[in-house]
Amino acid sequence: MNETVNAGKLYVMGVGPGASDLITVRAARILSGLDVIYTPTGKKGTQSLAHAIIEEYLAPKTEVCTYHFLMKADLTAKKAVWDDVAHALKNEVANGRKVGFITLGDPMLFSTWVFLLQRLVSGARALPAWLEIVPGITSFSAIAAASAMPLAMEDQTLAVISCTAAEAVLEQALLNHDCIVLMKVYARFPLIRDLLHRHNLLEQALMMTDATLPTEQCWRDLATLPFSEKEWKSALSYFSTILVNKNWQLSR
Ligand SMILES: C[S@@+](CC[C@H](N)C(=O)[O-])C[C@H]1O[C@@H](n2cnc3c(N)ncnc32)[C@H](O)[C@@H]1O
Repeated sequence: MNETVNAGKLYVMGVGPGASDLITVRAARILSGLDVIYTPTGKKGTQSLAHAIIEEYLAPKTEVCTYHFLMKADLTAKKAVWDDVAHALKNEVANGRKVGFITLGDPMLFSTWVFLLQRLVSGARALPAWLEIVPGITSFSAIAAASAMPLAMEDQTLAVISCTAAEAVLEQALLNHDCIVLMKVYARFPLIRDLLHRHNLLEQALMMTDATLPTEQCWRDLATLPFSEKEWKSALSYFSTILVNKNWQLSR
């Protein structure tokens, strides 16, 4: 992209885990001056949570472009959407527009944005002048703060891992680190609970779902959950994360 011909710019902003006032001042300032904003939806036809978070910061003139990343499709179909959205963003910038792209939490952590980044700046050694990435508050930072559970201290190690990883990888993380953040818990909750049980960590683990949203719920000590093995699917949401800290006494 020719950086000197136009003043178009793409701003990629982390909008935090849910609460509208957990975005940075920088992101709020940028949001108020955009020509167009690209907002994701989890399911076709549903409102974007990321969009709901930042709606109050947008100027009336800002055009809203909603797109749907296919979460359950095969890789070819997913790649086609990433190609399309990356292409659209590139065109907007080439046309001199100020373009926003928002992601939940932080854009550089387990975010589909990174697949677009690969398409937009592949081979570049530095961040191009037409792109700015604004960090956001990650879900696990918000959960640690809301539950007063430290993420790591002094010489302790912290692993951040997606529960979509192989069971052996998850088990190694639990064995090798003092503190562990388990993300994308939802679909594999029974397996994760078994692993924590096997390693005697249920009492050092805390799970939060929908952190900072009105539907937020927190379970301290996963040994005594108020729902049965069969009820977990309705009790949890996709936005569920477990923090484990082997050196912290959880208050009940
Ligand atoms: C695709 S990842 C996005 C991570 C995000 N970029 C971040 O910085 O937190 C989705 C996972 O993040 C976690 N997550 C995101 N928002 C959350 C929330 N409000 N409460 C609890 N967990 C959340 C869950 O583990 C969820 O499965």
